[in-house]
Amino acid sequence: MSTDAIVLLKDEHKEIRKTFRAFEKAGEKAYASKKRLVDRMIELLTVHTYIENEVMYPRVRDLLPDLEDDVLESYEEHHVADVLVLELSAMKPEDERFTAKTTVLIENVEHHMAEEEEDWFPKVREGLGRKQLQDLGAEMLRARAKAPRRPSQPGAVKKVVKAVTG
Ligand SMILES: [Fe+2]
Ligand SMILES: [Fe+2]
Repeated sequence: MSTDAIVLLKDEHKEIRKTFRAFEKAGEKAYASKKRLVDRMIELLTVHTYIENEVMYPRVRDLLPDLEDDVLESYEEHHVADVLVLELSAMKPEDERFTAKTTVLIENVEHHMAEEEEDWFPKVREGLGRKQLQDLGAEMLRARAKAPRRPSQPGAVKKVVKAVTG
């Protein structure tokens, strides 16, 4: 089985996009499905940003110093998503700002994933060999097994604090 880091991350992006499209199709008052979809989104995003923050980004920063600015910008984009996810996790689907906040989360994450996929992941593939990308992917799978699944879990909270303290 391939554990290519970029393939793994793009597969997760695909899963995340599926929940976005389903949310956009849900009826205005389809509260139960909207809630279920946002819960799923929160879980996928919490796990995904965790493995990128803990494994992908620090390794890329070490191995490919030219990409440092892209990595730092991406940490900040994750942080914006973390804040929205944290707020959404405390809201009810009937709340006035629930749909608006989810829409802004979707817009932000779409922009971020497009930048990763089109902008700097190709440079990572160019800079790292196949073997390094396989090892990185294997390390991400190990991190995924212990990743937080809700924004209130310790690993996720630590990430929010780190966004400010570095
Ligand atoms: Fe990311
Ligand atoms: Fe990503």
